[in-house]
Amino acid sequence: MQRAESGPAERIRRRRRLVGIGVAVLVLVLLGVVVAVAVTLSLRGNTRTFKETFVARCEDFNGTDCEKIWGLFEEAYVGRDPCKVPVAAYGPLIAAAPFPPKCNQRIFWSKTKAVVHDFTKKRKCFETVEDTLLGSVLDGQTWCGKEGSNETFATGCPGWTDCETSAVRSFWNGASAAFADAACGDVTVMLNGAVATPFYNKSVFATIEVPRFRSPKVRSLKVVLVTQENSLTSCENESLKDLQRKLDGGITYSCKAVPEAQINDCIPDPEKGCPVCW
Ligand code: APR
Repeated sequence: MQRAESGPAERIRRRRRLVGIGVAVLVLVLLGVVVAVAVTLSLRGNTRTFKETFVARCEDFNGTDCEKIWGLFEEAYVGRDPCKVPVAAYGPLIAAAPFPPKCNQRIFWSKTKAVVHDFTKKRKCFETVEDTLLGSVLDGQTWCGKEGSNETFATGCPGWTDCETSAVRSFWNGASAAFADAACGDVTVMLNGAVATPFYNKSVFATIEVPRFRSPKVRSLKVVLVTQENSLTSCENESLKDLQRKLDGGITYSCKAVPEAQINDCIPDPEKGCPVCW
């Protein structure tokens, strides 16, 4: 009698439990599929965005075959361990978009990225590496490849300090070397007067660029030490003496402390060209 009463109720409960488990499994499977699709789309999206940014910035330089430049760029790192991209891998890219010598117009920098770029955007008479074709397409970007893959990744890549020969670091080392090789005449560098060591011996400027300034091609190096109201560092700073010592004999050295506000106010006059602001 008891078994007859509990039998159908138990069967209903068991059926409900089975239906519940089935629904839960279905939801989990669906969730997995949605996550997988979203990850795939976002990776593809990053690649597309990265290439689109590269090509759009490249097209600002009229007459450039941007698909060819993109192809040479990809060849440097695609399919490689992202930490094992030698500087030489970017050789064909740099050869296809070289830095033409521009005497008296090259400006270098260290720890002054924002102020120098604000300045060169207004004053076309000075050019940093980031104002050139290759420098501008990759400024602020991160990229890498992966062994066994022909894709470009724009996230999850090793950064500057993660490895010596990361895809990003090797590019900048190669581009900075080629840019410094093309320097001639009077060269300017903006250094930061708000830090204790404006000429930092491990910087790209110290290790890669300064050793490439050769006399007589480079006549002089002018340091513009960018100061704030309460900056403690002056042109007498010990690290600047180190810079003078490292400079090829025959290159004239000079240094001038210039308040950042004065640099920001240094606007070109279309009639007179570039004013002397320091
Ligand atoms: N970690 C992360 N990023 C770094 C690091 C680091 N340790 N060192 C350099 N970088 C990258 C960053 O993108 C940073 O904005 O290089 C940029 C410049 O670093 P700084 O120390 O400010 O300057 P420096 O190393 O001297 O490089 C600037 O190199 O790009 C060329 O011609 C350019 O003269 C300029 C010089």
